[in-house]
Amino acid sequence: MRKRVVLITGAAGEIGQALIHDLSATATYDILSLDLHPLPDEMKGLSTHIVGDVLDKKLFARLVTEYEIDVLFHLAALLSTRSEFAPDLAHQVNVNGTLALMQLAADQTQRRGEPVKFIFPSSIAAYGLPDLATKERDLTVREWDWNYPTTMYGCNKLYCELLGSYYSGHYLQLARTEPVMIDFRSVRFPGLISAFTVPSGGTTDYGPEMLHAAAQGKPYACFVREDTILPFMVMSDAIQALLGLGAAPRTSLRRSVYNVTSFSISAAGFRERVLAAFPDAQITFQPDLRRQGIVDTWPAGLNDRSARRDWDWQPAYDVERAFGEYLVPNIHQRYKG
Ligand code: SER
Repeated sequence: MRKRVVLITGAAGEIGQALIHDLSATATYDILSLDLHPLPDEMKGLSTHIVGDVLDKKLFARLVTEYEIDVLFHLAALLSTRSEFAPDLAHQVNVNGTLALMQLAADQTQRRGEPVKFIFPSSIAAYGLPDLATKERDLTVREWDWNYPTTMYGCNKLYCELLGSYYSGHYLQLARTEPVMIDFRSVRFPGLISAFTVPSGGTTDYGPEMLHAAAQGKPYACFVREDTILPFMVMSDAIQALLGLGAAPRTSLRRSVYNVTSFSISAAGFRERVLAAFPDAQITFQPDLRRQGIVDTWPAGLNDRSARRDWDWQPAYDVERAFGEYLVPNIHQRYKG
């Protein structure tokens, strides 16, 4: 008999590591994790980890003979800044990789006669506001507003959200009359900030980079203007969002894609909070034109009313608690000594 598992792709990334810690503590599932990289040594034993590529179809053909995938958290992706430097690769990983996994989930769904749950992190990058005047006017956007991304990553995420809906209701396999329906659920995340890991390749990275640099006594030049406002959320809330959406009864979900957020803050406001915790921090502003151009098209806030209504979404950490109770104490601890 095949072993029932939850599969996590992109498992060595920031969200993946935090999700494995959380899921392994509850011991509800055996975890199969996949990434191009190994997991950090201290995570050994929390999952069965496979070093491999989401584009490797032979690898997946082998995996499904051994494992029955019940839930799939598909986290593997190139983030927004990196994708601008390697758009072809970004498309391959972010779109072709996702398509291959949806196909796999559809095959598995058909084989076992029960939908595979496919949980997919999307992003504020799915939005593209035309100018700063609009960003200042439409302070929080709903899921269907301004879906005109200007980055490869944003286009990839938006398209994969649509693919998810397609595979949840319209995908007809050859010689079949009934659609094969996977159970696709997605959250659009704001910038994420972890106390334990540092992001790479994203455009919201200035927040966490500023904080981690300050904790290590390193000077930091922020790559966006002081007045740049974006929504953010701490990693622990991001994990609760993925798990909360995953656990919600299908019948209560009126959308396949939900905004989730916690607090909006300017880069100057971020610096103030970092300085309050690390008074010697040296933080300057040296905007990078390309990265500034990206964040100027992203909304200052997300309207997450649908998530609150349909699956009781609520972040545990507002800005005060985020810095005071989660980020600063854990980051102090992390770099102590
Ligand atoms: N944090 C991501 C990025 O900056 C956005 O989802 O690319």
